[in-house]
Amino acid sequence: MRIGILTSGGDAPGMNSAIRAVVKSAIYNNMKIFGVKCGYRGLIEGNLIKLNFSSVDNIAEKGGTVLKTSRCPEFMKEDGRKKAVDTLKKFQISGLIVLGGNGSFKGAEKLSKLGINTIGLPGTIDNDLNYTNYCIGFDTTLNTVLDCIKRIKDTNSSHDKTTIVEVMGRYCGDLALYSALAGGGEIISTPERKLSFDDICEKLNKNILSGKKDNIIIITERMYDIEKLQKYIEDKLNISMRGTVLGFLQRGGSPSAFDRLLAGKMGVRAVQLLLDGCTGRAVGIRDNKIIDVDFKDIDIENHNKKLEYELLNMLL
Ligand code: ADP
Ligand code: F6P
Repeated sequence: MRIGILTSGGDAPGMNSAIRAVVKSAIYNNMKIFGVKCGYRGLIEGNLIKLNFSSVDNIAEKGGTVLKTSRCPEFMKEDGRKKAVDTLKKFQISGLIVLGGNGSFKGAEKLSKLGINTIGLPGTIDNDLNYTNYCIGFDTTLNTVLDCIKRIKDTNSSHDKTTIVEVMGRYCGDLALYSALAGGGEIISTPERKLSFDDICEKLNKNILSGKKDNIIIITERMYDIEKLQKYIEDKLNISMRGTVLGFLQRGGSPSAFDRLLAGKMGVRAVQLLLDGCTGRAVGIRDNKIIDVDFKDIDIENHNKKLEYELLNMLL
């Protein structure tokens, strides 16, 4: 049996650990395994390489993805997907593992419907897939965010200052929420529970009046113009503060042990699913158990992951 693997969308720490696990378990099961370069673009362009043990030597600890990734508009069109299927046929590849986020899964579901046995592995720092508690990369990024915030806090507390920290997450507030729950922030605003400029000022003022003068306000990206928010708070509360966008600092870095192990276990399950002749399924983790679910049971069209409000209300 010949199978392929590709990484697509935003890179995430732990993608390499997943590639390593897939390659090792495919070889263990006497399969031939091909790496598709640059996500769906590599499928369209026929850019594939044969992988073996030495291809995955010492990659588990590396951030990013050795297969490279892309956002590929051409694959969104029927024509592009037809070229991708032709490439897979040319290489006699009957099964494909797609490692990526929400968008990549939409593409994977379409490939599955075109007759390619396709399995999704959740690789995204956003943790925005609703069928799994954790996606590969989220834990590492969360730790990176907390590390950055800890540094900002040293300055904040030395000067009794407040900083706004913008984290990634696309339309999902998990990175903001979990960072705050782990002790990284006093006020948070996420797409699921968006605060107005005045709400933020009110909460901050309350903290300052009660003696908490150094504060971290964590906001999810794409919600506000951070400079406008900073200026608004400064004018309204007559204080001076800063805004910091963490950006790509959050996406790189060596994966945590949690992400490496998660990637390993999920990778092995993905290969097993292909061996069993399955298609159109996504691997995840729920209640500490590796699971797999049908693409049609995941609402991949909508960003509807629920935030853990109970914790938010209790701890902030
Ligand atoms: P992520 O997988 O991290 O959410 P994107 O949303 O950018 O990242 O999606 C990655 C790629 O998946 C896109 O560049 C595109 O090639 C493919 N893709 C996304 N949405 C669709 C769709 N509706 N149909 C087919 N392919 C899609
Ligand atoms: O999906 C991962 C992610 O880092 C999101 O958090 C962010 O919105 C997006 O990718 C950024 O994309 P780009 O790589 O195109 O800047």
